[in-house]
Amino acid sequence: MRRARVSQSIRELLSDVSVDARKLIMPVFVDEGLNGKREIGSMPGIFRYGIDALPDHLDELQHAGLKNIILFGIPKEKDSGGSSSYLRDGIVQRSIRIARENFSLNVIADLCLCEYTDTGQCGIIRDGYVDNDATLSVYDRIAASYADAGVDVVAPSGMMDGQVGSIRRALDKSGHENVMIMGYSNKYASTLYAPFRDAADSAPRVGDRKSYQMDYRRKKEYLMETSLDIEEGADIIMVKPAIFYLDIVKSVSDHFPKPLAVYSVSGEYSMIRHALDLGILPHETVGEYITSIFRAGANLVITYFALEIAGKGGA
Ligand code: PBG
Ligand code: ZN
Repeated sequence: MRRARVSQSIRELLSDVSVDARKLIMPVFVDEGLNGKREIGSMPGIFRYGIDALPDHLDELQHAGLKNIILFGIPKEKDSGGSSSYLRDGIVQRSIRIARENFSLNVIADLCLCEYTDTGQCGIIRDGYVDNDATLSVYDRIAASYADAGVDVVAPSGMMDGQVGSIRRALDKSGHENVMIMGYSNKYASTLYAPFRDAADSAPRVGDRKSYQMDYRRKKEYLMETSLDIEEGADIIMVKPAIFYLDIVKSVSDHFPKPLAVYSVSGEYSMIRHALDLGILPHETVGEYITSIFRAGANLVITYFALEIAGKGGA
């Protein structure tokens, strides 16, 4: 067995999995109330950008060799209906136009309401409960407005039942049959989103997200969630988070012949980032960690390390 490990070049020759920057997606936070950029306290090295600072950041990503971004917007105004989410000149819609007009990046936009509602919930509240179908009609409007702005892929992350099908119909009806949908098919109710809620100012003001995000104690529910997203028209399916859920990644990859995106979330980034910054772990940890996600079956990985990995020419 050791002959196959004798030198670096032999190990390269025999390696099966590599991390290619073209398969990575970098999250980008755009804040309507900000000028310039501001570091996110819980995620050292990751920033919110004002719309004025967005072009320079996209330039930086493109120069490093990245090809894909996923946009998140932080609006100035929040209300019970999340009405800043579907404005023609909303923060995400403007960001999409900037990215499309000046860069050659695949532009993905996260589609949810938690950044836009005054409750911080991912949908519209009726009688203390997130109303599924009232929420879908808002998602449809957001999808059409992103598509009008020129988005390549919309990524609904709110975990409402039927969201992919509803958005597919809305896109087709508004003349956007080539806009793709990346469904957050398997999104578990996870503590690992905590730093993101600080990044995107989207923490629920009341309650939690357990009435729509998945319970990690269930073993087979992901098969149903994934099948439904595919039936409803998802072009790309997802597992989220990544580490702690690689068993799910492997199984979804083995069972479903659809491109599989895996979202390595904010808490994963923050844990590893802090350990690196404290000198507790060496930088090669990033390569080992992202490789494990591809080895489990991911076709695409959303990671806050994307820029760093691309800048180093791979992991
Ligand atoms: C919004 C959304 C969340 C993430 C992506 N889209 C947060 C949540 O559902 O609480 C998490 C991303 C991360 O933690 O990096 N629905
Ligand atoms: Zn949400």
